[in-house]
Amino acid sequence: MLTTISQIGKHVGEEVRLGVWLFNKRSSGKIQFLQLRDGTGFIQGVLVKQEVAPKVWEAAKALTQESSLYVRGVVREDERSKSGYELTVTDIEPIHIAEEYPITKKEHGVEFLMDHRHLWIRSMRQQAILSIRSAVIQAVYEFFKERGFYKVDPPILTPTSAEGTTTLFHTQYFDEEAYLSQSGQLYMEAAAMALGRVFSFGPTFRAEKSKTRRHLIEFWMIEPEMAFVDHEENLRIQEDFVSYIVQYVLKNCQLELKRLNRDTAKLENVKAPFPRITYTEAIEMLQKDGHEIQWGEDFGAPHETAIAEKFDKPVFITHYPASIKAFYMKPDPVNPDVVLCADLIAPEGYGEIIGGSQRIDDLELMQKRYEEHNLNPQAYQWYLDLRKYGSVPHSGFGLGLERTVGWICGTEHVRETIPFPRLLNRLYP
Ligand code: 4AD
Ligand code: MG
Repeated sequence: MLTTISQIGKHVGEEVRLGVWLFNKRSSGKIQFLQLRDGTGFIQGVLVKQEVAPKVWEAAKALTQESSLYVRGVVREDERSKSGYELTVTDIEPIHIAEEYPITKKEHGVEFLMDHRHLWIRSMRQQAILSIRSAVIQAVYEFFKERGFYKVDPPILTPTSAEGTTTLFHTQYFDEEAYLSQSGQLYMEAAAMALGRVFSFGPTFRAEKSKTRRHLIEFWMIEPEMAFVDHEENLRIQEDFVSYIVQYVLKNCQLELKRLNRDTAKLENVKAPFPRITYTEAIEMLQKDGHEIQWGEDFGAPHETAIAEKFDKPVFITHYPASIKAFYMKPDPVNPDVVLCADLIAPEGYGEIIGGSQRIDDLELMQKRYEEHNLNPQAYQWYLDLRKYGSVPHSGFGLGLERTVGWICGTEHVRETIPFPRLLNRLYP
């Protein structure tokens, strides 16, 4: 039976057998230090020449970087090691001796690493990020399960756009034109009218010509949609959701956060409620600080960062002008020039992680929006039906998984937060 490195603490003083890769090796002539990994963690194996059979010593010497092997050894507690344990190696069975590994200890450029992404993900840093990504995914499912939401899967191939036509990926659907989904929202609204409270979690696609540290072409989005929920309650669910995810990662991923040198004090503080400002207040704030931005213009990354710097938690910016937001957002009854929406801006310059709103539930207003936005009434006919048969106030939002993981991990670029990033000019590997 194989043990895993993550479980090794239960076997102190015992002999265990592990299936591992060698990611680094050092030798003093009489002792070999093998840096081993198995996906669940990292551990150092120590071989003392005088204490092992010559065959075992030679087998260890022949191991190259990224060779695979079964290793047998006795687990020791070791305060100096990050994992807290060390393995006194007693036997080695090489499985495959790796060819000369392209990723070495020297610094590599980003393009080189991206070309070798299939290997780069084996590194300690990437393992930490991908394991935190996995924990965030777990947290998402647990949060909604605890609250009785249904998981619903909207289609990926769609005849319409949800978030404007400029970033659509076109494809052929037999004789019809189709697009890859930018957002499952419109379908989730239909699902909310059937099931009440629902969430989706899937890949979304945006043909965005942006080459920034926040943009991916293919990214994963969590989209809850809730019947009988207004703007206010929507915000409360969002702040609870984001707090839950961050606290979940703090509880379950201490080792990984340490490996990433993440300042966790900043994350500890992420607890609901979050501060809220209106779009108009944000514009005034920026103007006072000398930014050249006028009411009615959308925020760029520098604006979002400048606003985020004023708060030590994520901040909601609410009530944007209707003119710069999506067609489905409900106007504020007090001032119909603005809509009942919010973007949630992460601290430390990570930008917008959530976009959400209350939706228009009035048939006539929705029809008017179709005309203003030149939406093909035939293609969107079914969406109007939701306003014809038992329309109710409802709200929802979309959380970008990669931006959230990037913020929690403190990565400089979202490309590290997804196993195989699709970026402008990159479809390989
Ligand atoms: O603000 P967005 O465009 O909102 C929607 O798509 C709504 N239909 C969601 C809803 O209400 N159901 O996108 C939501 C989030 C953003 O806040 C951001 O975190 C992420 O998705 N996002 C991206 N992440 C990485 N790369 C991109 N190109 C992204 N575009 C949006
Ligand atoms: Mg948005």
